[in-house]
Amino acid sequence: ILITYGGGSIFKNNVMNQVHEALKDHHYLEFGGIEPNPEYETLMKAVNVIHNENIDFLLAVGGGSVLDGTKFIAAAALYKGDSWNILTSGGADIKYALPLGSILTLPATGSEANANAVVSRREYGKKLPLTSDLVRPVFSILDPETTYSLPLKQTVNGIIDTYVHILEQYMITREDSPIQDGMAENLLRLLHEYTPQLLQNPNDYNLRAQMMYISTLALNGQLGAGVAQDWATHMMGHELTAKFGIDHGASLSMIIPSLLRTRMDVKEEKLKRYAKEVLNMPQASGEKAITIMEQFFASINSPIKLPDNVTEKHINELVESLFEHNSFNLGEDQKIDKKMAKEIYLRALVTPQK
Ligand code: NZQ
Ligand code: ZN
Repeated sequence: ILITYGGGSIFKNNVMNQVHEALKDHHYLEFGGIEPNPEYETLMKAVNVIHNENIDFLLAVGGGSVLDGTKFIAAAALYKGDSWNILTSGGADIKYALPLGSILTLPATGSEANANAVVSRREYGKKLPLTSDLVRPVFSILDPETTYSLPLKQTVNGIIDTYVHILEQYMITREDSPIQDGMAENLLRLLHEYTPQLLQNPNDYNLRAQMMYISTLALNGQLGAGVAQDWATHMMGHELTAKFGIDHGASLSMIIPSLLRTRMDVKEEKLKRYAKEVLNMPQASGEKAITIMEQFFASINSPIKLPDNVTEKHINELVESLFEHNSFNLGEDQKIDKKMAKEIYLRALVTPQK
């Protein structure tokens, strides 16, 4: 077994001791230092360890970055050829992978239950996703007590990531999915209800447990099954992380209000439904719904505009690399082209973004 972990939080909160105790009758090695936004070069070092040490199972202990990084390691360990192709092919090139399990310490990404991973290569300024069922964890342990030690900022990032995962699959043009819509609305309502309570009581077991389960359900594939999905906010956010090192959660709260406003022509109907079902504001317009969403993000100190040092020149560069990484236009209807992506980034420079 190779236990993989990040920068050391699991030593401070006693999680690693529990892992050692549970594995005391097994032979294991450890590989630490997987960064937030896991780095290709670091992960390839773990692949070397696997090749030298005859490892046949991976146990990821940490947040989404450790889980995602471990998924990539699992595939790269058995990959013939240049492992970078795993990412440039979006995971399509993965034919084999080592099995992996996870112990999650940060509810946010849904990585504990999905087939996705996102890996950065800072040398190239790139952050690329992969999808392959071969890297879905064979089990995941979700113990709410492991999340008590989260810094406020990471708790908030996790809430935003979860919220936006739901929106990417819910705030779509078509409306013929009552089951998925009802599930999404329930999860969003609960996020509005629990978030202020959790920030007041970060060591409340029940609140931590509910939040952990919501974030898994937000991206284990159920909400998006059989419905159109957007994901443009995520793709545009990944560029912000690659270029400016902005946390994933924060990148999403910066972009999504602007994206929804820019796409009001196709999103308005669903925004009104969201206002009625989630915000309990049956008369609200699409614009009003976005304003309330922004107020929610701002109320937990997640940024709702791009940082002040971002210029139009930067935005042109972001748009270029966005379309270098995506060969199709973005959005659930693939209508977001370079021009519209620029408009979305520009609108996110100011607040209010109208
Ligand atoms: O590295 P350590 O020391 O463990 O500290 C981490 C890290 O500094 C810390 N942390 C985690 N659990 C903790 C804790 N600190 C105290 N107590 C705990 N219990 O939190 C920091 C951030 O961790 P990270 O794993 O980077 O955060 P997150 O879970 O938000 O993962 C973000 C990454 O996941 C990708 C993002 O792009 C980003 O690279 N995503 C993965 C997805 C997927 N697999 O489906 C989907 C998402 O949309 C997202 O793109
Ligand atoms: Zn996300």
